[in-house]
Amino acid sequence: MNLAKLKLFALIGDPVGQSLSPAMHNAAFRALGLNCAYITLRVPKPTLANAIAGVRALGIAGLNVTIPHKISIISLLDELDESANLVGAVNTVKNNRGKLIGFNTDGEGALRALEEKIGSVKGKEVVLLGAGGAARAIAFSLARVGARLTIANRTVPRAQALASAVEQKLSTNVKVASLNRAELTKALKNVDVLINATSVGMRPKIDKTLVRANMMRRGLVVYDIVYQPLRTKLLREARRAGGKTIDGLGMLVHQGALAFEIWTGKRAPIKIMKAAAKRELRGENR
Ligand code: ATR
Repeated sequence: MNLAKLKLFALIGDPVGQSLSPAMHNAAFRALGLNCAYITLRVPKPTLANAIAGVRALGIAGLNVTIPHKISIISLLDELDESANLVGAVNTVKNNRGKLIGFNTDGEGALRALEEKIGSVKGKEVVLLGAGGAARAIAFSLARVGARLTIANRTVPRAQALASAVEQKLSTNVKVASLNRAELTKALKNVDVLINATSVGMRPKIDKTLVRANMMRRGLVVYDIVYQPLRTKLLREARRAGGKTIDGLGMLVHQGALAFEIWTGKRAPIKIMKAAAKRELRGENR
């Protein structure tokens, strides 16, 4: 590694301590023999503009962006690609010779993880739980490839707002549901795929789930984007109901792989990134 000529990439957000991205990206840089490194930089909310000026001044080559900056960073960038424009949030920035371009790889990452397991989702009936940042990215990606969406959220007006935004931008119909048990059971009746894009089930509240086995049909595909833990309560319930389960590791790895490809122009070593993320999840690097 030539430290004097190192190309630097960083995750900015607050907090950033728990991230698996440094392990994933540094493993990928090593595997491809690139003279690059990926670090985390804690950037408190009020300091974002200064941080981005710093990125420009120091020539940092690329960023991942996490909570609380995914939306507020937009006004500080020079350009947005289609993915970020559609979703209205940025998780990846490329510094293209001084021009900062924003991308969003969350939705496409989730879609790849899903399609890797079940093939095309075109025409599939999907119930998406959640209407926050992650759900938003996933909703646009799924609707773009022709999935038939129902968005179910605790705060129903948020689900309605997301459904309207998707309908308007992609001219498709999106249904809305509450998390009310009867309503959700009805929404899940003839559905092909259930996706949890809420934080419910995440450590430390690992015994929480929004949907139980008796609300799921046999053969239902249940996809949880929570990855801490990987075997969430929702996925355990899905197994009991005879469903097919997909955990959150795939989305994490694919959103990272897409960012890696945007930055380097090289194909991401997916298996190596996945193994690094898994090791980190098991705490082997600590
Ligand atoms: P993210 O960017 O990770 O998606 P977010 O924007 O804060 O985070 O969104 C969190 C999502 O989890 C929301 O859909 C939220 O529901 P509300 O819109 O009603 O707040 C959902 N969520 C979080 N805790 C929940 C709980 N205990 N029960 C149901 N939904 C919950």
